[in-house]
Amino acid sequence: MEKDEILRWLREKDEARLEELWVRADGVRRACVGDEVHLRGLVEISNYCVRQCRYCGINACSQGITRYRMNRQEIIECIHEIVRFGYGSVVMQSGEDPGLSRSFVSDLVREISATTDLAITLSLGEREDEDLRDWKEAGADRYLLRFETSDPELYRKIHPSLPGKTSDRFSQLERMRDIGYEIGTGVMVGIPGQSWQTLAQDIEIFRKYDMDMIGVGPFLPSPHTALGGPEAAGFYLDPEDQVPNDELTTLKVVALTRLVCPASNIPSTTALATIDPESGRELALTRGANVVMPNVTPPHYRVLYEIYPGKACIHETAQVCRNCMERRIHSIGRVLGKGPGGRRGISPRLAAK
Ligand code: 5AD
Ligand code: FES
Repeated sequence: MEKDEILRWLREKDEARLEELWVRADGVRRACVGDEVHLRGLVEISNYCVRQCRYCGINACSQGITRYRMNRQEIIECIHEIVRFGYGSVVMQSGEDPGLSRSFVSDLVREISATTDLAITLSLGEREDEDLRDWKEAGADRYLLRFETSDPELYRKIHPSLPGKTSDRFSQLERMRDIGYEIGTGVMVGIPGQSWQTLAQDIEIFRKYDMDMIGVGPFLPSPHTALGGPEAAGFYLDPEDQVPNDELTTLKVVALTRLVCPASNIPSTTALATIDPESGRELALTRGANVVMPNVTPPHYRVLYEIYPGKACIHETAQVCRNCMERRIHSIGRVLGKGPGGRRGISPRLAAK
């Protein structure tokens, strides 16, 4: 699919014609990754963050947030729950937190790797290659790092670099692939200042880098941030150029992503479930997605990981999310995924078990 065609679909308003896009995406999903919906247990291990991303509710400048960092035992208890629930993998996510030291994470990864058959995914922000290598050696399989937007100017504005260190997420993604990770990325849809052109380019980049996992969700203004306040007005483009942060546009991106990356793992995201609690999860799953990431973070920490307001499931328990996901998956005639559900076959670590 050429960029012009991607752009045309993104701008398409006709419901009947869009039906063709949904049917195509669902067909490619079924043919290439099947009916299994893989479940990844999400553990939000720390909400400390040194970055000042203009969109994110837990950025370093957000005042009045209680910060937490889970200890080893608390994380291991979540891992046990994930195993008990029968999920095939764990995603450990955090703000960019130097307090999560190289050795803390590698010891944790080594323990999970030695005691479970879970695929291990990390999503801990931009870290040094030494950290990434160490964690890979300890047994980590995958790493998630969204590039957020492929417009370099917009990216710089919403994602300031740390002093003396230019943030280049594409080069980090490539390095992670060289180190041996399956790599995951994604963007937000409807960032103030995001044009249709750059969104089409984002989708082309998913294909160019042959990303293993691609998560997309709507941008949701957060009150603790620049983009959630009056400053955002200065970012918006003319209405005909500005991408809206709505459900329909997000679903188009999910469907187009499936068409350009037929074998990738594509989650139905929490941000989409936040703007459509009733059916957002199912709609993404029937228009290209094949993964869900039920939250297993303990409730008292979960409420503190509010990257945007009204985040779906924030007041639920891991058990409630488990039952809810299972019901939703069955309601659309799909089946629960078995095993780690990796893009590139089973990892050498798991194969050796
Ligand atoms: N709205 C929607 N998504 C957000 N994220 C961060 N802040 C927001 C927000 N305000 C997304 C980013 C990040 C991921 C963990 O959450 O894409 O990579
Ligand atoms: Fe958490 Fe539905 S997935 S309540």
